[in-house]
Amino acid sequence: MSATPRHQRPTNLKKFLFGCPYYPEHWTAADRELDPQRMVAAGVNVVRMGEFAWDYMEPTPGKFRYDLFDETIERLGKVGIDTIFCTPTAAPPRWMTAGHPEYLRFDEQGRQMQHGSRQHCCTTNDAFRAESRRITAELARHFSGNTHVVGWQTDNEFHCHFSVCYCPECVKGFQDYCRKKYGTIDALNAAWGTAFWALTYNDFDQIQLPYPSGRPCFPCPSQELDHYRFISEGVCEFQRQQVAELRKVRGDWFVMHNGMMAHIDYWKFTEDLDFLGFDIYPGFVFRVPADAADISSGLDRARSVSGGFIIPEQQSGPGGQRPYTLPMPQPGQIRLWAYQSIANGADGVLHFRWRSCRFGAETYWEGVLDHDNIPRRRYEEFSREGDELKKIGGRILHSVKEVQIGILRESDNDEAHSTLPLGLPAPHDVARWAWRTLWGQHMPVGIVDANDEFTGLKMLIVPSMPLMDQVLADKLRRFVEEGGVLLVTARTAVRDRNNHAFSVTPPGLLTDLLGSRVEELGKADPDTLKIDLSSRGSAPNGACYEVLSLHGAQALGRWDVPQSAGPHAAAHQVAISANRVGSGLAIYVGTCLTENNARVLVDLALKEAKVHALGQGPDAVEMTRRIKGNQKLLFVLNHYAQPQTVHVPPGIDLITGQVCQGTLDVEPYGVAVIEEHEV
Ligand code: GAL
Ligand code: ZN
Repeated sequence: MSATPRHQRPTNLKKFLFGCPYYPEHWTAADRELDPQRMVAAGVNVVRMGEFAWDYMEPTPGKFRYDLFDETIERLGKVGIDTIFCTPTAAPPRWMTAGHPEYLRFDEQGRQMQHGSRQHCCTTNDAFRAESRRITAELARHFSGNTHVVGWQTDNEFHCHFSVCYCPECVKGFQDYCRKKYGTIDALNAAWGTAFWALTYNDFDQIQLPYPSGRPCFPCPSQELDHYRFISEGVCEFQRQQVAELRKVRGDWFVMHNGMMAHIDYWKFTEDLDFLGFDIYPGFVFRVPADAADISSGLDRARSVSGGFIIPEQQSGPGGQRPYTLPMPQPGQIRLWAYQSIANGADGVLHFRWRSCRFGAETYWEGVLDHDNIPRRRYEEFSREGDELKKIGGRILHSVKEVQIGILRESDNDEAHSTLPLGLPAPHDVARWAWRTLWGQHMPVGIVDANDEFTGLKMLIVPSMPLMDQVLADKLRRFVEEGGVLLVTARTAVRDRNNHAFSVTPPGLLTDLLGSRVEELGKADPDTLKIDLSSRGSAPNGACYEVLSLHGAQALGRWDVPQSAGPHAAAHQVAISANRVGSGLAIYVGTCLTENNARVLVDLALKEAKVHALGQGPDAVEMTRRIKGNQKLLFVLNHYAQPQTVHVPPGIDLITGQVCQGTLDVEPYGVAVIEEHEV
């Protein structure tokens, strides 16, 4: 019996959270006067505080000041609003960096970061780690008896602005990482293939950090991959130390972090947390309704590593920093986007931020309230949402998103691709087109981490993931043997975990399962060649073509080369193979998915997998289902500026209380949450 997949794990929250990040340190008492009552009137039950207030809490070394936070937490607590407190390590105070300039990070050009914004200190630096443990322990002790503080956020969006540090501590840290991983320098030389370009090391002390931009030419890809692993492990360790301090003091606090950024393996990172938080600003992405698919897949990545998660920062205004302003969300969109987060698995939404700040680098990052503290339409919309969630949040809490089709992702594979991208699509590019076509067809699709269990899935897509090992290959085989339908795209399983090409013909460890081999790989302009799918029509190629030979599989498609191409190695050769294994099917597609071919190629697997759509309607009316016991909640989200009609299972719209007989009209940017009747 396999364990429950992590992506199907509910949160351990006691209630559905609704609220906002709140910054009492930015306001006078008069500004703050009405906040508790306005928040309560809007349905707020939680705020997040403290992530950028280290200077307030510890104005001089070792002298702590809590009056403002204690008083604010108390005032809010009295009206039933809890607080998530944050460790303030994303913004260390000036007295610290003045005394210890060595804590400041270095970029690839060797420039030292300066005090004056945020995320300026290095999370690898041992002395800074000690400061981080010290402030965390101090805050945990201070709030240990405060019943209104219900949970913690570690730091703030690790790696939001900065992820690869070149400070001396990072060089030393990387050397230690390698020493621990390889034991002997010979083992490292073998694993990095240092025979190439005479890179052999005599000692771990000689190791430097790789420079991806080239110094003067490209670095060793195996070293680079290890470097990314080191970076991820470093930030996990930094966080782990904070989590340990918090858990030491109180076991019933939940601990989470907000955001998913570069060079962090969130599968591992989330192991130390109760669940992940994911900050979402759809305004960065949304221009036309179909873009909502990308917002949704972003949210689903958080779900893939966390199971249930929360949104510590959900866009609530246009938002702007020095060089840009995001489009103003039009009436209904703020609420729609919040429901989109919930539809994809969030058990809580905090709108960033309560009130726009009157100063600082984010003066024009608009909150629920404007600078003048006058509630307007954004507050009205926020209140409507709060009011609705007060009614239905409990029914949503702890339900999990239904996933029958998985799209595989893995941090190690993303990093490995980036070390040798060759101008070809990354796993996330291929995954994106697979996601878009399945999302547009209202399929129960979800991202699944390669480290997770595949239990419960009917279909799985492996999007051009270069690295493969025996454990993953065995899991994929078992998945197919037990009846799963697998779709693997070009350039999968071409390298081992050292980032070395396999000595066997690709797809190496997957050859038996897929029943075919790649005899030739060539780059091709997308859409220049076609794949002839006989009775199923044809599909354009992606950025490459592969010529397959069959070793047990059947040909499902052959390359169709236009005359104008002249002699071409792919002409009439096998492009797609299908292999029956156990009670399942393994399909190999010798190209990458694109906007133009994803629908046809993914359909090859979809037809076999017999997965049914959640409903029918225009593409960008998003549909997801969350399940708890025998309760099924269907979320219907209209991302269009026009009303839409959709066909869905019968039930009751929990928001309006109206019975839905199967046809549903959804207003522009409208939302329905249908509790499906049992059949
Ligand atoms: C997030 C960050 C917040 C705030 C917000 C708006 O990335 O966590 O602190 O900066 O963006 O820019
Ligand atoms: Zn550093």
